[in-house]
Amino acid sequence: MKKSKKLEDFRSAVFAELQRIKDEVRSQGKSIIDLGIGSPDRPPAPHVYHALQEAIENLGNYGYPSSKGTGELRETITWWYKKRFNVDLDPESEVLVLMGSQDGLGHLPLCFLDPGDIALIPDPGYPVYKAGVALAGGTVYPMPLRKENRFLPDFDSIPADIAGRAKMMILNYPNNPVAAVADLDFFEKVVRFAVKHEIVVIHDLAYSELAFDGYRPPSFLQVPGAKNIGVELHSVSKTYNMAGCRLGFIAGSEEAIEALARIKSNIDYGVFLPVQQAGIAALRGPQDIIDQNVAIYKARRDLLVNGLAEIGWIVDKPKATMFVWAKLPEGYSSSEIFSEEVLRKTGVVMVPGVAFGKEGEGYVRIALVQDASFITEAVRRIKQEFCFE
Ligand SMILES: Cc1ncc(COP(=O)(O)O)c(C=O)c1O
Repeated sequence: MKKSKKLEDFRSAVFAELQRIKDEVRSQGKSIIDLGIGSPDRPPAPHVYHALQEAIENLGNYGYPSSKGTGELRETITWWYKKRFNVDLDPESEVLVLMGSQDGLGHLPLCFLDPGDIALIPDPGYPVYKAGVALAGGTVYPMPLRKENRFLPDFDSIPADIAGRAKMMILNYPNNPVAAVADLDFFEKVVRFAVKHEIVVIHDLAYSELAFDGYRPPSFLQVPGAKNIGVELHSVSKTYNMAGCRLGFIAGSEEAIEALARIKSNIDYGVFLPVQQAGIAALRGPQDIIDQNVAIYKARRDLLVNGLAEIGWIVDKPKATMFVWAKLPEGYSSSEIFSEEVLRKTGVVMVPGVAFGKEGEGYVRIALVQDASFITEAVRRIKQEFCFE
């Protein structure tokens, strides 16, 4: 088969290697505690799956849906945005329903990039950002996220000719994998930079509702003028434990939304209507599941971070997301070597930071996606095999 050269851009050697080692360790009879992939382990709320169930029994729901999403869901999203962020949106022109935020992130670059055009992408970053740019034939200019800058990009370090040529930028706060957060001052800076250089901003806000200790992540669209130059993406996957339901949405610039809707109307037919109805139930209905999720992930975070501290592995407690971004313990410099050693000795899976980009080296990402008893067991096994003091 003659495959495209482009296909080479879609190889993730680090993830493939991690899977290979995991399979090998499992085949040796060791039990695995998988803190690798960030997939929610808890079910959705009963009123959500009941809405899905009811909608599935309505035989009128099996036709092609509109690729924009139903009017009712777009109205609901508009209502939610106003309630949550005090941002006004027009449900007709400033909101679009997605098959998960991944759908939007993967396809947005097709709206803005021609081959060779530059996209500013966080490094480390969630993998679809790079993949989307590669699909569009664009060129990634990585923006390093470093601890000394609170894991925010340093716009002053971007060369003027790159900023001048860049057509889009992706940001993500609360962030996967580094679990950092950003405030409105930062987003104001983003808007100034983007306006100056005519760059479209794509803000991935997948973790807006998964924040701890009273912290409430802001929306980039709260900044005056943001709606003219950017869009923001949301996911119901993490907020409502509906990852398999494939539902997300995007809000913001009418021009960007129109462009994405045009691409999508050519390649998909929208989200299955019962899933959209489940989304309405999730957004409009009781929100207790969010409080439960937050309490559970926070308890897991504390178990992990406090437990690791007891063996001298000091890692930051994140304010948001379902991840701990842990600096490698003293004496280690390669995240791949370290995570392989942990996996082989303990069966605990963590993702080497370098899987998310060059700047991720020196860290591992630990996902809080297992019950507290498994987190406790993971810490126990690590304590048994390692001491970093
Ligand atoms: C930062 C970030 N953005 C987007 C997504 C994709 O979410 P969805 O299920 O809405 O496609 C994820 C999933 O892990 C994520 O971590």
